Amino acid sequence: MHLETSVGRRSVLAGGAAGACVCALAACGAGGSSESTPAPSTSADGSLTELSAVPVGSSVAVGLPGGAMGIVTRTGDAAVRAFSAICPHQGCAVAPKGDKLVCPCHGSEFAPDTGAVLEGPARTGLATVAVSVRDGKVYPA
Ligand code: FES
Repeated sequence: MHLETSVGRRSVLAGGAAGACVCALAACGAGGSSESTPAPSTSADGSLTELSAVPVGSSVAVGLPGGAMGIVTRTGDAAVRAFSAICPHQGCAVAPKGDKLVCPCHGSEFAPDTGAVLEGPARTGLATVAVSVRDGKVYPA
C-alpha cells in the first residue's frame, strides 16, 4: 500500500514535469509573427541570409550552422551583426519584433544592433555570432 502511493506520487511528479516541459516548449514557439520564425537551417551555400532580405536597420531570424537559431541585424549598407537567438534568461527563442529583439517567454528585450539587454528579466545580452558579408550574402565567419 505504501509502495503504491509512492509510485503513484512519482508518476504524478514525472507527468507534471513532462507537462511543464511541453508547456515551456509551446511557450517558446508561440507569440511570434511570421517575421520572427527562424529559418530551419542555413542555405545550401552556407549563407545565413541574402543581404537584400535585411533592410538597413532591421533584423531577421535565421538558422545558424548546427541548427541553432540566430538573428542577423543590418546596421549599414554592408554592415551586419549577428546573435544567438537563445535568450540568456531561460533559453526561449528571441525574435525580431518592431525595433527590438524580444523574448516571448518573459518579455526580455534586447538591442538589435548590440544584443545588449534593454529590459529584463534577462541580465546579460545575446551571445554574438561572428559573420561576414560576401557577394551580397551573410555568412558565418
Ligand atoms: S526566457 Fe527569455 S525572458 Fe525568460
